[in-house]
Amino acid sequence: TLELTLALIKPHAAKVPYVVKAIERKIIKNKFYIVKRSHCVMHLDHASRMYEEHKGKSFYKRLVEMMTSGPIEAFILAREDGIRTWRGLMGPTRALDAQYTQPTSLRGLYGLSNTRNATHGSGRPSYFIYNDSI
Ligand code: CMP
Repeated sequence: TLELTLALIKPHAAKVPYVVKAIERKIIKNKFYIVKRSHCVMHLDHASRMYEEHKGKSFYKRLVEMMTSGPIEAFILAREDGIRTWRGLMGPTRALDAQYTQPTSLRGLYGLSNTRNATHGSGRPSYFIYNDSI
């Protein structure tokens, strides 16, 4: 069965056309269906809802400010085992870890820091991706 996942290219990466293209190629190569795609700026309330579980953490403010700082490239993807597959392509959350352990993962290639780690992927199936927010 197909599983939906929300895949985001974060602002620092979304502003580099070459990076967006390369990520798009990876999505297609890995046989995801692109259900919806949008170039948009995330609203503050939207970002806070998405990152609710990180509220109170040291990096929360930095994270939300970064996510709303400019246009993102947002995809709703569908694939068998979509959530896990997309997270696998992204690699480890922290870009420096990713560069050492999985240098060819998306974060290994395009991540700049723990916060600016190039991409986001749903951790679990969520209502978030079913509304009209992207
Ligand atoms: P993401 O997968 O979007 O989910 C939470 C985000 O918090 C993560 O990617 C990073 O962008 C950000 N973040 C910033 N600092 C850290 C950190 N030290 N550990 C984990 N995530 C961090």
